[in-house]
Amino acid sequence: MLFSSFSAALLLLTSSVSALPKIPRATNLDSLAARYPKSDLPGPDGLELKYVLLGVGTQNYTCNSGNETAPPGTTGALAKLYDIGTRLNRDPLAQWKISSISGLALSLSSFGNLLDGYLMLEGYNEWMGNHFFTQMDTTTSIPTFYLDHAKTTPFPNAMVTKKNAVDAPKSACPGTKNEGAVQWLQLVDEKGLSAGGVNAVYRLETAGGNKPATCKGQKAAFEVPYTAQYWVYGTKA
Ligand SMILES: *[C@@H]1O[C@H](CO)[C@@H](O)[C@H](O)[C@H]1NC(C)=O
Ligand SMILES: *[C@@H]1O[C@H](CO)[C@@H](O)[C@H](O)[C@H]1NC(C)=O
Repeated sequence: MLFSSFSAALLLLTSSVSALPKIPRATNLDSLAARYPKSDLPGPDGLELKYVLLGVGTQNYTCNSGNETAPPGTTGALAKLYDIGTRLNRDPLAQWKISSISGLALSLSSFGNLLDGYLMLEGYNEWMGNHFFTQMDTTTSIPTFYLDHAKTTPFPNAMVTKKNAVDAPKSACPGTKNEGAVQWLQLVDEKGLSAGGVNAVYRLETAGGNKPATCKGQKAAFEVPYTAQYWVYGTKA
């Protein structure tokens, strides 16, 4: 009920209001950096916040061992990355919004045009690039944040590996089918593969995306929708 009237309001708004005026991408996110969502992960000490991105996509899993009691394997993720940091950095309501954006975006993502409308209204519709996994060899793939729509040369590309993980807080949005929110992560480039001044990524404020406990009733390969905020850091200029 609440949701459907909210959807209707959003549709009305998006059909009558054009996007907020574009503001240039912030080069300094110091005000937002102070609002880094705290957890038991080691903090981004000594690093500079470069981007805060909303990832909207899927976590991919496999169940191809034929063993119904085994947990699914994790094969990677695929997500579109939107710039939310530029707006949040100057938004007096940032503190409140940070904890609500992911769940709201996930629930709206089941209705493509509603998500687009929400992103546009908030000024979060600047698409910066994609998150995917880069296959390094037959057994290794590396989480990649390929920001080829950023207007800098070379464009930022973070190729990072998981260093620490903690469970999402109990308050996290459990996803479209109550599967639970994926863990919060600290991802760090330890191989010097990144470019464009970024080398650490925190996956925070996750919504949905968790795998089921076992492979019972699952396809050989399947996807679980999720959203997350990727707080992207680099060394201080
Ligand atoms: C199936 O998976 C479960 C849980 O991981 C494991 O204990 C069991 O040995 C596996 N069975 C076979 C036949 O591999
Ligand atoms: C995840 O699923 C999407 C959609 O089917 C697919 O395009 C992508 O290649 C998959 N990614 C991985 C890492 O398996």
